[in-house]
Amino acid sequence: MGQSAKVVPHAKVKIDHHAKLAEEMKQRLKVEELAENIDELEEVVEDVFPILMFTVIISTAILIIFLIRMYMRYSIPNPSKNKINGKTVLITGATSGLGKATALELAKRNARVLITGREKVKVEAIARNIRKKTGNQHVNALQLDLGNLRNIREFVEEFNRTEKSLHVLINNAGYLGPKSATDDGLERTFAVNYLGHFYLTHLLTEKMIKNAPARIINVVSDAYAKGSIDFDDLALNKGYDISKAYARSKFAQVVFNLECHRRLFGACVWSFAVNPGACNTDLLRYYPGLTGNILRVISRIMYKPPEDGAETIVYCAVADGLREHSGKLFANCKVVKINEKVKDKTVARKLWCVSAQLCGFESDVPLEEEEEVKPQAAGEQQAEVKTP
Ligand SMILES: NC(=O)c1ccc[n+]([C@@H]2O[C@H](COP(=O)([O-])OP(=O)(O)OC[C@H]3O[C@@H](n4cnc5c(N)ncnc54)[C@H](OP(=O)(O)O)[C@@H]3O)[C@@H](O)[C@H]2O)c1
Repeated sequence: MGQSAKVVPHAKVKIDHHAKLAEEMKQRLKVEELAENIDELEEVVEDVFPILMFTVIISTAILIIFLIRMYMRYSIPNPSKNKINGKTVLITGATSGLGKATALELAKRNARVLITGREKVKVEAIARNIRKKTGNQHVNALQLDLGNLRNIREFVEEFNRTEKSLHVLINNAGYLGPKSATDDGLERTFAVNYLGHFYLTHLLTEKMIKNAPARIINVVSDAYAKGSIDFDDLALNKGYDISKAYARSKFAQVVFNLECHRRLFGACVWSFAVNPGACNTDLLRYYPGLTGNILRVISRIMYKPPEDGAETIVYCAVADGLREHSGKLFANCKVVKINEKVKDKTVARKLWCVSAQLCGFESDVPLEEEEEVKPQAAGEQQAEVKTP
């Protein structure tokens, strides 16, 4: 009994030892299994990581593009529901983009709409289409090339012969593209976007004064803020750059808009500059090279439709209570702050004189001395001061 009592603890110790060993083995196996699993997991992560990163980068890029697109396409619908029955509106460059969209909307608002384009056949087809879409039979097509001063003069002579009135003039036509000269030998961007409209407005001013209150709307762009004019290099011979030429023309338009206000506010002709925002139109059609192709794709994806860009142009043509905002810049149907540099009266005066000279008529203000402003212009400047 005593012997067997000694054997039992020994065996028990042995069993315990084996059990312990087995347990340790089990643990080790588990650890090894775990290590193996971790290795496998690491391999999987290594395989999947680039795909994961790619997905994250693409999703972030899509989100950023989407947000920029939302920002670019942000537009406020025209709050004015006014109809302008029978009022005559003349829109330059209405064969596509913003001009065409503006013409369609104003035809819906019962205006008498006169649209212009360089090719009579093209502009007539657009007019026919607008008449059909809106049922407004008072939509007519006129030929006008703003890059040809003689054509502008003849256009106005014919206009004055055939049209009794003009209540709204929308200076909209635009060119953006490589360096080229107009028939008059002038740099095309400056000539079409600014000078042609300057001359057209000048020749039509009397008619608008007779029909006052009348409105002049200059379609500009936020590029104006980057523009400036070197009067010694109007041909941009020192170096042509598409954006620079475009910015200069838009700068001139905003300066001109303010000058129209100074001169014509007293006669109840109000001037508004409108920045329609970036719109998907044909404006980039002449932009050359790879940059042009990229910009056109961006325009298609990111920019707002011309109908949205036209909302502010239509707003300035039809809304009530805009008298006190004459001379100002509008975007998204609201007045926006104007860059101080366009308020420089010396630049405005010089631009006016040089433009008059280029168009072949005598300026009513001297080029240099501000004090020598003619009585008429001085009176109109007073009217501006009275404006609240
Ligand atoms: N699109 C934008 O993102 C944007 C942004 C800010 C401001 N804007 C301004 O909006 C205005 C309209 O441009 P859009 O974007 O609607 O461009 P668009 O679709 O290219 O329209 C331009 C219009 O101008 C006319 N035009 C061009 N050269 C002319 C000339 N020598 N004489 C008479 N008409 C001429 C064209 O008519 P034809 O070629 O048929 O003659 C066309 O109807 C421009 O002043 C532009 O600077 C546009």
